[in-house]
Amino acid sequence: MVKPKPVRIAVFPVAGLGTRFLPATKAVPKEMLTVVDKPVVQYAVEEAREAGIEQFVFVTGRGKHIIEDHFDHAYELESQLEGRGKKAELASLLESLPKSGSVFFTRQQKPLGLGHAVWCARHLVGDQPFAVLLPDDLMVGKRGALAQMMDVYNEIGGGVVVAAEEKPKSELHRYGVFATGRTNGKAIEVTGMVEKPKPAQAPSCLTAIGRYIIQPEIFAELDRKDKGAGGEIQLTDSLARLIGKMPFHAAMTDCVRFDCGDKVGFLHANLAVGLSRADIAPGLREALRKTSG
Ligand code: UTP
Repeated sequence: MVKPKPVRIAVFPVAGLGTRFLPATKAVPKEMLTVVDKPVVQYAVEEAREAGIEQFVFVTGRGKHIIEDHFDHAYELESQLEGRGKKAELASLLESLPKSGSVFFTRQQKPLGLGHAVWCARHLVGDQPFAVLLPDDLMVGKRGALAQMMDVYNEIGGGVVVAAEEKPKSELHRYGVFATGRTNGKAIEVTGMVEKPKPAQAPSCLTAIGRYIIQPEIFAELDRKDKGAGGEIQLTDSLARLIGKMPFHAAMTDCVRFDCGDKVGFLHANLAVGLSRADIAPGLREALRKTSG
């Protein structure tokens, strides 16, 4: 088998309005809401880095400039930390910074949908495979979700790989749902894909979640700017048109997914990550004990 082209660039669509989190997201992008002490977007960047990503493209929108500041030096703060001998805090700030010249920003001038946001990154991605990470989906596991998907991508010889999760029938109308063929370890052949289907039209209970490895041929499909479910330009619709033209697989990972775009999912993520951290867990457990009586 020919080794597939390596995936070195990732797109982070962060231009959504985050209406489910208003008023918190009036002036603060939802991707900057914190799970314990880190913005959700930083978890996604760290996951991408672990998977071998070297270039990071953010598709931002109005009011999202603090995402740029977050991935830049904060000289005043850094020199204050240095002056006060706060070495660990300074080291952690510097450690989380992507290398100079590896971060790119482009704007989606109107939030016309996820497919449109990805299309806005076309000139920065060019003619190479790329990853897409939706920071709302926080993936927690020993090995990152995207790194596990890269394993599948390399094993099956490239093409499209989309992270997948089984969902109960009652929730399928909120997701992109796969029609599936053969299963090969963690990879499941995809034969069709439908965005937010009505219950009777869902081809399976296997749904797409916010991690993708995509080939540049997607941009020609996105160029059509067809509107799909909810009147938005959906990524799923363009992905579905690549099925049959290249290997296309759904991949299960062993990560736990938290939907941080949803209030309960976000609170759940804070509890789960907090309880997994030695520095937070004892105090958090005590607080929970008091709260639940
Ligand atoms: P969502 O649909 O969950 O984000 O999109 P939203 O529209 O901001 O959320 P609500 O429903 O109003 O609360 C998933 C991801 O796609 C990005 C979002 O920023 C999020 O990371 N997105 C969505 C864009 O970048 N542009 C869009 O036009 C839509």
